[in-house]
Amino acid sequence: MSGAVVTRVNGPVVELSAGEGLAMRDLVFVGPEQLPGEVIALEATRAIVQIYEYTGGLRPGDRVHGSGGPLTVELGPGLLGGVFDGVLRPLHSVGPHIERGGASRTLSEERNWRFVPTIGIGDLVTSGSKLGTLPESAAIDHHVLVPIGVEGRVEWIVPEGDYHVGDVVARVGGHELGLSQRWPVHRPRPVSARLPPAEPLVTGQRVLDLLFPVARGSTAAIPGGFGTGKTVALQQIAKWCDAAVIVYVGCGERGNELADVLQEFEALKDPRTGQSLLDRTVLIANTSNMPVMAREASVYTGVAVAEYYRDMGHDAVVIADSTSRWAEALRELASRTGELPAEEGYPAGLSSALANFYERAGRVRTLDGAIASVTVLGAVSPPGGDLTEPVTSHTRRFVRAVWSLDRDLAYARHYPAVSWRDSSARDSDGLATWQAEHGDPGWGERRTQTLRLLTDADRVESIAQLVGADSLPASERLTLRVARLLREGVLQQSAVLPGDEYTTPAKQRALLELVLEVHARMQALLEGGTPIARLDAFDLSPVVSARFETTPEGAAEVNQIATELIGALDSLEGRR
Ligand SMILES: Nc1ncnc2c1ncn2[C@@H]1O[C@H](COP(=O)(O)OP(=O)(O)OP(=O)(O)O)[C@@H](O)[C@H]1O
Ligand SMILES: [Mg+2]
Repeated sequence: MSGAVVTRVNGPVVELSAGEGLAMRDLVFVGPEQLPGEVIALEATRAIVQIYEYTGGLRPGDRVHGSGGPLTVELGPGLLGGVFDGVLRPLHSVGPHIERGGASRTLSEERNWRFVPTIGIGDLVTSGSKLGTLPESAAIDHHVLVPIGVEGRVEWIVPEGDYHVGDVVARVGGHELGLSQRWPVHRPRPVSARLPPAEPLVTGQRVLDLLFPVARGSTAAIPGGFGTGKTVALQQIAKWCDAAVIVYVGCGERGNELADVLQEFEALKDPRTGQSLLDRTVLIANTSNMPVMAREASVYTGVAVAEYYRDMGHDAVVIADSTSRWAEALRELASRTGELPAEEGYPAGLSSALANFYERAGRVRTLDGAIASVTVLGAVSPPGGDLTEPVTSHTRRFVRAVWSLDRDLAYARHYPAVSWRDSSARDSDGLATWQAEHGDPGWGERRTQTLRLLTDADRVESIAQLVGADSLPASERLTLRVARLLREGVLQQSAVLPGDEYTTPAKQRALLELVLEVHARMQALLEGGTPIARLDAFDLSPVVSARFETTPEGAAEVNQIATELIGALDSLEGRR
């Protein structure tokens, strides 16, 4: 574009005298340092650009160069295990800090990849079909796909061998193709069909998988006040969920948290593959000390990366911590551009911005015919814990599951502090059907029973506070005791105790069945005339410790504990 110059610098927002050939959402490079930015408003004689870098030193008269297109990122092998900024430039982790890297190119040009072509000369290929495969990490096969917009006969393709991302590996319909491709982050990558959610995303976190499950390709938000455990919960999911690829976006949050993720994930082993967890993770860091305007780019870059792996046939998860910091950037932008604010200073476009982000989730049939998914999970940090504020209330409308964190539970160190009153899961009925078809017909009924018990206990608890627990009927005292068992033996889950940090579905089921079975037996004993005092004296501590005194996969161990305990309970009846 010709002749655009900076006319005004307002923090991260820069006004230009409009040159020719500029379009909305175009990527431009501003000033002597070529700071990247995006056109966010365009009028006849001026344009407004948000800059992804600090604008110190930028001044009126500085020249602007257009890139001729929207913000795109480079997608290819080498993303896994890496840490990048909001526009996918590599970063270095130095001790507890994450710093700018030297390179501006996303993928290393030095690394060798063992590429194995899966098609031959003369084959007809279309956008998104597979050219070949390379092992990106021990866990993930990277399928090199024909870029969107390219199709035709394979005119030429390299033999199996070691190649760099910069090498041409094939020519299709006149296009030379390499191991990487570019993609505009705001545009959803095409699929051949969108499919309804079907299977669960197993998070390994009991309160989520048992009570508020999310399907692969679905969406969930985790709203919670300051320090209620949003980051820990999302990190636990990133570590232990059964997706193939995790894209973790640290958006406007503390930088040391991201550095911790990097270090921890490197040391931890994926229980399914035995490889480092970092091997399946892409970290995108736009932390609180980094340019505010790149927050939006960071979340869209995150979904674009996830869609790229989805298109290879993988199940990917995008985690954004925190979407509220991105919303704050939108608010700052609105105030600097003089846009008329809607609610609480946020621009009118807040709701559609959130919708566009969550709508990128989905279970799909890829252009190559595989079934794959992108699941989107976002933290929401309402100021003052006020769950009626705009970001939380809009987000609730767009997500399938809400994992609402409760301040009182967090205060009582009941972690994860997921409220059973305020959380919801629209996928739960569909997933109950899936569970029934996959060997667990009791799944839905156990969930209903558990939620009812927790609600009953809340009601009894409030009565007990008025009349004293001792004056409650025996069955209600039992309800309170069993609800406590549920909370302490099933729902609470430590992020740091080795046996407890994740739990397989089979062990989750065993733990819940144990508590429900104890309840049923004790109820029967009460009805049969056993005095409540006898039941009160019965030691149930093995139920509470079963979750962490067994291994994460220890369903059989839990069932053994259950057999012994139920046996002991049954013998109470004989001694009545
Ligand atoms: N599952 C858990 N096991 C053990 N401790 C936990 C767990 N979840 C949260 N905590 C404790 O709560 C603290 C705060 O958690 P976290 O940083 O995740 O909160 P947050 O909601 O992300 O806070 P902020 O609002 O500052 O972002 C943690 O440092 C940890 O001590
Ligand atoms: Mg946090």
